[in-house]
Amino acid sequence: MAEQDTKAKEQANKQADASVAKIPLGQRPKHIAVIMDGNGRWAQQQGLERIEGHVRGVETVRDIMNACNDFGISVLSLYCFSSENWKRPEPELEFLMSLLTRYLIGERETLVKNNLRVRIIGRRDGLPEKVQQEIEETIQACEECDGMTLCLAINYGSRREIVDSIQDIAQRVKVGVMDPSDINETTVSDSLQTAGLPDPDLLIRTSGELRISNFLLWQISYAEIWVTSTLWPAFNKAKLAEAICDFSRRKRRFGGLDPRKANVAEENRS
Ligand code: IPE
Ligand code: IPE
Ligand code: MG
Repeated sequence: MAEQDTKAKEQANKQADASVAKIPLGQRPKHIAVIMDGNGRWAQQQGLERIEGHVRGVETVRDIMNACNDFGISVLSLYCFSSENWKRPEPELEFLMSLLTRYLIGERETLVKNNLRVRIIGRRDGLPEKVQQEIEETIQACEECDGMTLCLAINYGSRREIVDSIQDIAQRVKVGVMDPSDINETTVSDSLQTAGLPDPDLLIRTSGELRISNFLLWQISYAEIWVTSTLWPAFNKAKLAEAICDFSRRKRRFGGLDPRKANVAEENRS
């Protein structure tokens, strides 16, 4: 990177730090989930092959993971590869799988050094042996870590996750350890692969598409959605700060009224 670019980046990062520092920790999202989209389009815009966009996308993953750590975020979930992405051409799939392998090997030490808890969601058995092996090694390496959680969705599809959860619950009913009337929202949440993690508060999608693409359907029921036209390889700490600042200004009502209006409604009733 040219010296001028490095300086501009440092300056932008400082501004990002300053703007998030003004937001009390309790008003920042605890869990941020990201649909990292637009790698291919970014590469095409630069006159490069699509795969170059994926390579650059990994750098953004690193930057955003560090930024979340700096911003005091507890959980960062990243949609890395969907169960529908297998529809892509074979050479791109091969590249993505080898990039994933290289990422898991290359980042392992940094993940441990940064004390990151690593959670991998998605169907492992559909992945190449090598990727499965590196996932396992990474989980083992980070076993003792107790800092921010990095949840990577790999070969993940939310509908499949829900089907698996239903099968698991049905099995428990069948063997008689659970009664159908005992099934509640907690039972379902606890049988998903995200069990134990808080639901995402903020869902970010890059590249401007206004869809969810089978990501955490159950878990995002009350997430605040923030979409940017910025393509994932160009996403950065400053953009993340923008999303967090925007989040802190949202009024989350969870189906109720905002507290001020609720008081008025209460007074009118009495
Ligand atoms: C996101 O970028 C990465 C993956 C889904 C693996 P894309 O590869 O979807 O890039 P676009 O959307 O085609 O630009
Ligand atoms: C969503 O991106 C999946 C990931 C980011 C892994 P896609 O590029 O696959 O989504 P669609 O096809 O535009 O819905
Ligand atoms: Mg895409």
